[in-house]
Amino acid sequence: MHIDLKGRTALVTGSTQGIGAAIAAGLARSGARVAVNGRTPERVEEAVVGLARDVPGGEFVPVAADVSTEEGADRVARALPEVDVLVNNLGVFGAKDPLEISDDEWRRYFEVNVLAAVRLTRLFLPGMTERGWGRVQYIASDSAVVIPAEMIHYGMSKTALLAVSRGFAKQAAGTGVTVNSVIAGPTHTGGVEDFVYELVDRDLSWEEAQRAFMREHRPQSLLQRLIEPEEIANMVVYLASDQASATTGGALRVDGGYVDSILP
Ligand SMILES: NC(=O)c1ccc[n+]([C@@H]2O[C@H](COP(=O)([O-])OP(=O)(O)OC[C@H]3O[C@@H](n4cnc5c(N)ncnc54)[C@H](OP(=O)(O)O)[C@@H]3O)[C@@H](O)[C@H]2O)c1
Repeated sequence: MHIDLKGRTALVTGSTQGIGAAIAAGLARSGARVAVNGRTPERVEEAVVGLARDVPGGEFVPVAADVSTEEGADRVARALPEVDVLVNNLGVFGAKDPLEISDDEWRRYFEVNVLAAVRLTRLFLPGMTERGWGRVQYIASDSAVVIPAEMIHYGMSKTALLAVSRGFAKQAAGTGVTVNSVIAGPTHTGGVEDFVYELVDRDLSWEEAQRAFMREHRPQSLLQRLIEPEEIANMVVYLASDQASATTGGALRVDGGYVDSILP
């Protein structure tokens, strides 16, 4: 299958590192012009330099803005009048005792993980439907369906994204615009290696360490290793393509079989 995104403009929120950066690279490799987003111009410029090195000939547009605010979303819309592929990747996470999470923390998770994506969808979906082609995606998590007791606030935000995604897919019915979410599982992003070595023998190689971690702490994973960011990006690139034209309103799993379910 040859995926060609030439002539398409993509926006990937929270793409200065991790899964977002891998998605930005994957979309650019398929020919899209990709807007790279993070909160500060310095971090965004640094990411663009790294991406341009990894994807020779790739076209990257730096767009620094805190998209969890109305003002930040408006700044993005001014910088990018037309977006064909919107990937709502931005998400924050962290463990907290469920009986200790404050009202402000609940609101922050909703604002950053859900409302930011809703706002950007509101800004860019009308243009896509007018042009008769578009792709909106939300990066959800296994925590959307397997709610961790220590991350109820995070799980809530990711479950909400699945609802938002399904709803906007209905809104875009019959327009040529598809709307989907991707359920990412435990992924090998920055900081994860330190986290793993806190839980397993420090003398193990990374390969052995992640297998021991998965066996002891994530036994429900069928992959039994962490997912690489590029593996999540592959699904996002496919969903962004012309070839994925009949896939909409779905929640597609790249979770290494972590969620114990036959569907989707
Ligand atoms: N990592 C996993 O194992 C995993 C598993 C399942 C799902 N996910 C989901 O995948 C997505 C990406 O996760 P990740 O681990 O790759 O994230 P990450 O490494 O923590 O990166 C977060 C990104 O978001 C940016 N960012 C943070 N706040 C922002 C804001 N207000 N406005 C704009 N950009 C902002 C950061 O850039 P700056 O610091 O430069 O602003 C950074 O590029 C999230 O939605 C997460 O919930 C992750």
